[in-house]
Amino acid sequence: MTALIEAESVKRYYSNASWLQRLLFLGGSEIQAVDGVTLRIEKGEIVGLVGESGCGKTTLGWLLAGLEQPTEGAVRFKGRSLGNIDAETRKKVQLLFQYPRESLNPRHNVRTILSYPIRKMGHTATADITARIHSLLEAVGLSARYADRYSFQLSGGELQRVALARTLALEPEFIVCDEPTSAVDMNVKVQILKLLSDISREKGISLLFISHDLSAVRFIADRICVMYLGKIVEQAPAQQLFDHPCHPYTMALLDAIADIDPNAIRKASLHGQPPSPMAPPAGCRFHPRCAYTEQVGTICWERGPALQPLSTDHLVRCFLYPEVSQDPDRKQ
Ligand SMILES: Nc1ncnc2c1ncn2[C@@H]1O[C@H](COP(=O)(O)OP(=O)(O)O)[C@@H](O)[C@H]1O
Ligand SMILES: [Mg+2]
Repeated sequence: MTALIEAESVKRYYSNASWLQRLLFLGGSEIQAVDGVTLRIEKGEIVGLVGESGCGKTTLGWLLAGLEQPTEGAVRFKGRSLGNIDAETRKKVQLLFQYPRESLNPRHNVRTILSYPIRKMGHTATADITARIHSLLEAVGLSARYADRYSFQLSGGELQRVALARTLALEPEFIVCDEPTSAVDMNVKVQILKLLSDISREKGISLLFISHDLSAVRFIADRICVMYLGKIVEQAPAQQLFDHPCHPYTMALLDAIADIDPNAIRKASLHGQPPSPMAPPAGCRFHPRCAYTEQVGTICWERGPALQPLSTDHLVRCFLYPEVSQDPDRKQ
């Protein structure tokens, strides 16, 4: 069956060459921000994307929202390449920005901010626009009074709700939510997560929920992808990932939040920063920080492991598990 949105072997490399290097055709080095990601998101599904800062989450989100073009590979919405779909269909794929204060015009009140996308959807009668503004505000849990407020009069949580209302005005089927709770406190975070989850279920909207915060992703996502230096290293249904993490990096991430649970068994700790995506380590990109490399052996720095299924919906990229390519009964 065709997925709602699908990335197939998508890569996004950025050139790091200076103007002088470019002038002299020296090329410079490449930043492998996203390096071969394959991902399907079904209708109504909420997929969480986690990983440390700089691992390529935003770049992958922009690729899936059609705001970045892949260096290689393809992104398809309902089976059609995002690069050449009509403007009407293009609106069905939207991005909720990380910092709403920066994405909302401070000179416009909420009414003006919301009426722009409403008009874009073909509604022109004033009464119709007003009714839609009120229903959008209601959908995001704000009263009609907010229509006359300006962004500087709103709290972080209220701003994020207005930004969501503006996105919903375009009647999207898929929204990339890029760290929508990174700039708000704990209480507001839970409210926003609940709101996103309710809206997704009610309207059947699919979400890619990006966060470096595993507890937020656990709260909202049906399925979770763990990203490390441009690659997905583990992918599983949310509960499965938390109950049976298989990749040493996932174990280390979970270990970092297990501080709140004194009975948690420590499987791996994460030390230091991830290496630069400009010069990723040879072999498995995680091997310099991995607690299991000694146990597994030299293969970890000799070859890059493939993302392979442990079961139908649990994929992992690690040599701790026998490679399926050697097993003719299982397909990658
Ligand atoms: N427009 C760009 N030009 C050059 N490098 C970029 C650009 N956007 C992102 N990068 C680099 O790509 C890598 C991944 O960045 P990003 O996708 O923002 O990661 P994350 O969202 O996980 O923090 C980083 O090393 C970042 O510096
Ligand atoms: Mg980011």
